[in-house]
Amino acid sequence: MPDAAARAYAGVSDTLPDALALPRQAFADPAVFEAEQARVFRTGWLPVARESALAETGAYRSVDLAGAPLVVTRDAQGEFHVLSRVCRHRGMPVVEGSGVAKALTCPYHLWRYGLDGRLAAAPGMERSEAFDRDACALPAIATARWGGWIFANLDGQAPPLAPQVAPLAERLASIDPASLVTADIISLESPWNWKLMVENFLESYHHIGPHAGTLQQSNPGLGTYEGMGGDLFTVLENPPADETHGPFLVAAIFPLTLMFFTEGPEPLGVWYELEAITHQGFRLNIHLLTRPDFAASPEMTAYYREQVMAIHAEDIPACEGAQRGVTSRLYAPGPLSHLEACLWRFHRFLKSRFAETA
Ligand code: FES
Ligand SMILES: [Fe+2]
Repeated sequence: MPDAAARAYAGVSDTLPDALALPRQAFADPAVFEAEQARVFRTGWLPVARESALAETGAYRSVDLAGAPLVVTRDAQGEFHVLSRVCRHRGMPVVEGSGVAKALTCPYHLWRYGLDGRLAAAPGMERSEAFDRDACALPAIATARWGGWIFANLDGQAPPLAPQVAPLAERLASIDPASLVTADIISLESPWNWKLMVENFLESYHHIGPHAGTLQQSNPGLGTYEGMGGDLFTVLENPPADETHGPFLVAAIFPLTLMFFTEGPEPLGVWYELEAITHQGFRLNIHLLTRPDFAASPEMTAYYREQVMAIHAEDIPACEGAQRGVTSRLYAPGPLSHLEACLWRFHRFLKSRFAETA
């Protein structure tokens, strides 16, 4: 399985001037996706929640990641936990959606788990000799906190996140992402390969196309550039057209953390969360990140939601079209432009995940 992926990414160039787009197999081959689950998603730090969305004791949020049904909780001590939400009895997800609860009670046979995953009660199980309550906790997943996000690492082997993205934290210091709260979430089923979403997010070359009447007017695509990048992150700077507009940046922590921030005294942000990913699509949750006073205003939030949705609506036909094209037999990868340095960095990250089996 990793061989299919290693082959798909083997052609990623070491230098940008001769870099090409990814080949068809990277988007169309289910075996490549299987390998990505194991080598890209399970090994990485994946964002699972915003801390501010779990502010209350007992707050929980279900999230489906890389084939893993998870739940993020906040316990009475204020500690965050990322747990498997697959019941230790016969596998029913113990919870769906988000909310606030004292415990997580599986709806099937009412086994009840604490917010830290420990099994607190299991009706009628005292007669089972195989039953050991302490051995039936919901498995805990490795977690990290950074920039107001909670991250999970499924295989528990990833090196600590913060040191790997230290320059990014420095670049975002004036924005202070951790101070932004979730004003609203837009959820959209998105029928294109997850990498097309990452790629669309990480280049502004296409401002001249789908966004000709919007972003191209405020932040021209041909003036954008990769401001910094490392093995695990990249930042795309989007200078304004003139002094009547402001700069913004987009950034990624590979593979899945996609963020957008405006700059200035009242920064606005967006987190593109890709959930329930298959090789043909995913659920996109667009989290609108704002200052708390902004989020408290329904009018301002509605206005921001409209603005973000208008831009995303311009991207949908591009992503849908690219999905049709890159999965067709006629597709042959073309050269990347100098404006697509962040894509090339993403591709190199992917290649590195399969390097040992190449
Ligand atoms: S499957 Fe959860 S209690 Fe039986
Ligand atoms: Fe776009």
